[in-house]
Amino acid sequence: MSDAFILGIESSCDETSAAVVRSGEQVISNVVLSQFATHKPYGGVVPELASREHLRNIVPVVRAALEQAGRSYESVDAIAVTQGPGLAGALLVGLSFAKAVCFAVDKPLIAVNHLEGHIHAVLLEERQKGNHELEFPVLALVVSGGHTHLFMAETCDKGWTYQNIGHTRDDAAGEAFDKVAKLLGLGYPGGPVIDRLAKLGDPAAVKFSTPQMKHPDRRDARKNGDERPHFDFSYSGIKTAVLRYVELNDMAAAIEARRKELVHIAKPRMEDWQRLCDRQTIDLVASFQRAVVRDLVNKTLAAAAEYNVATLLVTGGVAANSELRETFERDGSQAGLKVFFPSRPLSTDNAAMIAAAAYPKFLSKDFAGMDVSAEAGMVLR
Ligand code: KG4
Ligand code: ZN
Repeated sequence: MSDAFILGIESSCDETSAAVVRSGEQVISNVVLSQFATHKPYGGVVPELASREHLRNIVPVVRAALEQAGRSYESVDAIAVTQGPGLAGALLVGLSFAKAVCFAVDKPLIAVNHLEGHIHAVLLEERQKGNHELEFPVLALVVSGGHTHLFMAETCDKGWTYQNIGHTRDDAAGEAFDKVAKLLGLGYPGGPVIDRLAKLGDPAAVKFSTPQMKHPDRRDARKNGDERPHFDFSYSGIKTAVLRYVELNDMAAAIEARRKELVHIAKPRMEDWQRLCDRQTIDLVASFQRAVVRDLVNKTLAAAAEYNVATLLVTGGVAANSELRETFERDGSQAGLKVFFPSRPLSTDNAAMIAAAAYPKFLSKDFAGMDVSAEAGMVLR
């Protein structure tokens, strides 16, 4: 089989991205344009603004990815695009653009689930490093701003299939990082700044607990066709606990002062954060992160034990978190698991992962018709 060059397009949330990937194993180009500056004043992603930014940026971003790869629309073998889940308007921009190009240059269109993309970010980079062996059963934790999902992943004739064995019942882990950062006046997105500040604090300073949902959800278990437990997460309670701590300790005035100062700093550096945060805030941030990381690791490792897993993939924006990586590496290897993460640039949203996930579909000719529509709540199976 000769090489296949797939152009991937991703526009599900607040990054416009295009990439060219060779045969699901080599990133030739990967251009990611973040809308961070657009959404920052609002403390979170504004869907209408996201669609407008995607519209403005999609053509230059795709052109740049093709140019960097030395390819044209005619010289790629297929065009892959995120179909869902994500913001409906944002998804439509990428999907409509991809359809139009496929129609114009007569190339196959491949519709990709964003969560499958995150899983294939890890597989792509492992193949790129020369690691072509994957020991099954494989468990994937997809942990991002919109998702905290556990999937058992298997290969079949047509490519990959997935069984969901856990998800968040309310906020996603990344969403909790973002909301806690917002309520502490630390800006948006919250994950990267909490990650850096937490290194300076005492993670045992504030005691937080996360709900332990040990009992199998029988309805889900029956849907899955077995009686094994479901490993669900919940992070809205810890966000409320942080808010209560802030109120009890009269931190509101200091938070407001920090928020006002940060408005005037375009790109805050570590010195700025340290100057703007007192010890109590830094300890609070470290304790919050420790509680979320412990919960993610404990539940994932419990699921891995229950399903006799050999390989664990940890992916999505929150997989960029240093403490999460270190804890999974240490505790995962103690549990006899092989643990893999994407590099930090491929942890957060990007189109290389979409092009990589499309490769098995390209091989099995699993192409989408021109009537395919965006699915904001798309499920991964
Ligand atoms: O995968 P992603 O780029 O977009 C979604 O599909 O949601 O993930 C974005 C999320 C945000 O919530 C962001 O705060 C979080 O990933 N994130 C982090 C870190 N870097 C990004 N969370 C914790 N630590 C980080 N270093
Ligand atoms: Zn994502």
